[in-house]
Amino acid sequence: MIRKVTENDLDEILQIEQELFKGPWKREDFLYELDGNPYAVFAVLEEDGEIAGYADWWIMFEQAQLANIAVRKKYQKKGFGRLLLDEALRSAESHGCENMTLEVRVSNEAAIRLYENSGFIIANKRKNYYEDGEDAWLMIKPLGGSQ
Ligand SMILES: CC(C)(COP(=O)(O)OP(=O)(O)OC[C@H]1O[C@@H](n2cnc3c(N)ncnc32)[C@H](O)[C@@H]1OP(=O)(O)O)[C@@H](O)C(=O)NCCC(=O)NCCS
Repeated sequence: MIRKVTENDLDEILQIEQELFKGPWKREDFLYELDGNPYAVFAVLEEDGEIAGYADWWIMFEQAQLANIAVRKKYQKKGFGRLLLDEALRSAESHGCENMTLEVRVSNEAAIRLYENSGFIIANKRKNYYEDGEDAWLMIKPLGGSQ
């Protein structure tokens, strides 16, 4: 089941974030997405009574941006990443967005595969995008928009 995040989810989300990312988001980053960022939509996917994954995306007028997506290791490769991404894409389309963009580490083959299989294409390279100096691919997927 995919549902909106609440503050009660944050401890579990922070654990998953630590498990998965070299530069994990902190509690205040997630709190801002929950309470401060008027453009953010932040959702979790629950399985067997626990959080299996989450995604956070921004709806900014005609532009959507995938800010974060993660699936707990033991639930990976079961289609949950695809479900979360589809939810973000549906939400963006229903708000009339013309495209969705994201940044991904050039070494992150699993995520790049997920995005390419969902119709994202590489638009550009962002040099030294991450704190450890790794480059990012900027990827984009055109959406239906409202026109
Ligand atoms: C990227 C991530 C969210 C994918 O989640 P997932 O639930 O394992 O993905 P799915 O099972 O839905 O697979 C979706 C597609 O990606 C592909 N894929 C997933 N993991 C893969 C891997 N390790 N290697 C190659 N391809 C992979 C699958 O083959 C699938 O393609 P298909 O639909 O054609 O079969 C997950 O690996 C993850 O949380 N990674 C760590 C956090 C991260 O890097 N987030 C992205 C930041 S930009």
